[in-house]
Amino acid sequence: MRIRDNAINGVTALFAEIVAPEISEAPTTLGQSGKAGIIKSCLDQGGIQATISTDASWSNDTASFQFRLAREPAAIAFPQDKDQVAVALECARNASIKVSAIGRAHSFQGYGYGNPGNLVIDMQAFTDLSFNNFTNQLTFGGGANVGPAAKYLWDNYRRHFPHVRGSHVGLAGSTMGGGFGTTSRFLGIPTDNLASIEYMLYNGSVVTAGPGSDLLWAAQGAGPSFGIVLSATLNTHEVPIDGAISYSLALGDVEVDAASTALLKIQKWVTSGQAPDELSLRFSLGNFASAGFFYGAEAEFDQALEPLVESLRSIAPAANLTKTVLPSFWDSEVAATGAGMNDPTGGQLGGRASLVQSWTVTSDNALSLKQAKALLQSYHSLNRTDIVGSGFLDLWGGISRNITDSDTAFAHGKNLWLIRVDGVANSGVWPSDGSAYMQALLEPFESSLKKSAPLRSFVNYVNSELSVKEWSSRLYGKNFAKLQKIKTGVDPKGLFSGYGLAIPAK
Ligand SMILES: Cc1cc2nc3c(=O)[nH]c(=O)nc-3n(C[C@H](O)[C@H](O)[C@H](O)COP(=O)(O)OP(=O)(O)OC[C@H]3O[C@@H](n4cnc5c(N)ncnc54)[C@H](O)[C@@H]3O)c2cc1C
Ligand SMILES: *[C@@H]1O[C@H](CO)[C@@H](O)[C@H](O)[C@H]1NC(C)=O
Ligand SMILES: *[C@@H]1O[C@H](CO)[C@@H](O)[C@H](O)[C@H]1NC(C)=O
Ligand SMILES: *[C@@H]1O[C@H](CO)[C@@H](O)[C@H](O)[C@H]1NC(C)=O
Ligand SMILES: *[C@@H]1O[C@H](CO)[C@@H](O)[C@H](O)[C@H]1NC(C)=O
Ligand SMILES: *[C@@H]1O[C@H](CO)[C@@H](O)[C@H](O)[C@H]1NC(C)=O
Ligand SMILES: *[C@@H]1O[C@H](CO)[C@@H](O)[C@H](O)[C@H]1NC(C)=O
Ligand SMILES: *[C@@H]1O[C@H](CO)[C@@H](O)[C@H](O)[C@H]1NC(C)=O
Repeated sequence: MRIRDNAINGVTALFAEIVAPEISEAPTTLGQSGKAGIIKSCLDQGGIQATISTDASWSNDTASFQFRLAREPAAIAFPQDKDQVAVALECARNASIKVSAIGRAHSFQGYGYGNPGNLVIDMQAFTDLSFNNFTNQLTFGGGANVGPAAKYLWDNYRRHFPHVRGSHVGLAGSTMGGGFGTTSRFLGIPTDNLASIEYMLYNGSVVTAGPGSDLLWAAQGAGPSFGIVLSATLNTHEVPIDGAISYSLALGDVEVDAASTALLKIQKWVTSGQAPDELSLRFSLGNFASAGFFYGAEAEFDQALEPLVESLRSIAPAANLTKTVLPSFWDSEVAATGAGMNDPTGGQLGGRASLVQSWTVTSDNALSLKQAKALLQSYHSLNRTDIVGSGFLDLWGGISRNITDSDTAFAHGKNLWLIRVDGVANSGVWPSDGSAYMQALLEPFESSLKKSAPLRSFVNYVNSELSVKEWSSRLYGKNFAKLQKIKTGVDPKGLFSGYGLAIPAK
């Protein structure tokens, strides 16, 4: 078993005691989790609604998409406005406990509830949406979620922002951690589209981090480390046409070797400039089919795909392209992101016990046939009955060709593929050896990948079991030192350091 230096669950009191001394004004012998009563009475005095583990609503209040990890905060506060957030932060500072925000609780790594003993600020009251018709920017509250925001923008202004494929997912969290979606190849990822963020800092001061500021740069990949996001503003876009093509490109019954060759042919089609940016493509590791959307005219789609299908038939004779013309852009939003897009609440939280791992590959170090085979072979070696696999490669490329790693804290310049593999528990309960098993399963791919370039990953899909050294280099690369400096200036006492991806102060 790996030794983790970023405690998320299981290792409770020990790690809580190690992290606590960073905030050291109030001498105490209580562990963080022993402070529920203190923090609750402070919140009560401030008139802030809050719950602790003995309250009847606790299991609802700590509901999480991720079942694998325990949720053991000291208390959850439900502030109704900025002033209440400020008081809650003061209560946490006074009690020497750390703070994390919960948006919509979709983090695959349980980062919203953070380490045991946190004060969790639940942002559910902060869901305002507004549109500025001079800047064409959307401003959303720190607790807003994807579906209602996308629908508001489309219904009222016929505009769009790139977003994740989950209507209930929190907008602040997903935007700060990447947010790759079906329009990201031509409009960028949500992180790239962040125009500004309104933060409440550890001391209750409210700052708006705008273009060119260090804090906005840092938020673009590491946002939860710096404060509570009260609101944020995104660039929005017109869509190329009000409609889309939904397609599937099956390979038929092929083995790993042929499927790997096919994947390389798809890659070649992309790197030789034949794949339009307005196309999304997700290659499934399960059945080797590609599927996605094209945001343009049908004739253009047919023309672009024809040479690809032809070249695939040389290895997979049954390769079969099927398409459906969607009459409106909104139909494609629902098809890509789920029926929750039409639900005023964004739909349901859902959930499962799982471990996600991810890798990104750049156009400078495109996949070799050997690496593709290692990936497909590793994935298909999964041989357990208590864990099922789910895995795909999302084609990136597109406008990321013009992005360099230093543009935002999250290093994603020239990304060509976003590769993701999940192990999902069959029973809803994660087996105790599941994480070690899934990491060992993908090890042959990982070691093949790191022969050609340093490993890279994706914030929202990062493997929670990595050490600080591993995740810092995979997500931030050379940006990490600057991030640490910014952290030291903005959150000097590490109030927002109570979660697995917290940037360590320098
Ligand atoms: C069904 C599903 C589909 C997904 N699809 C995609 C996808 O297509 N592309 C993609 O990139 N990701 C995807 N994700 C991952 C998702 O984008 C991230 O997990 C995201 O961080 C979730 O945000 P949340 O608010 O729902 O989660 P939370 O767990 O509430 O928060 C996630 C992180 O953001 C922080 N945070 C949230 N709100 C605030 C705030 N107001 N102030 C400060 N910090 C805040 C939390 O502290 C935590 O660190 C998906 C996840 C799920 C479960
Ligand atoms: C928990 O949430 C469910 C579903 O929203 C609701 O029916 C139930 O009453 C809640 N329970 C408590 C104790 O709040
Ligand atoms: C925090 O502690 C200070 C100093 O003891 C005190 O004046 C202040 O009222 C406390 N804040 C809250 C919200 O209890
Ligand atoms: C912009 O919004 C204002 C206020 O709602 C409205 O009066 C104006 O007509 C709008 N302008 C455009 C170009 O839509
Ligand atoms: C292609 O796929 C469609 C839809 O799944 C199916 O109806 C059709 O028979 C397939 N064609 C071939 C040649 O396999
Ligand atoms: C499952 O796979 C592992 C590693 O790939 C192997 O060691 C083991 O023997 C396999 N078990 C079964 C039952 O096939
Ligand atoms: C993006 O990069 C390509 C070359 O890789 C260049 O031709 C193009 O002009 C760039 N686009 C923008 C918007 O900078
Ligand atoms: C709060 O902290 C920030 C960052 O350290 C600092 O710039 C600001 O002056 C502080 N505000 C107050 C009121 O002390």
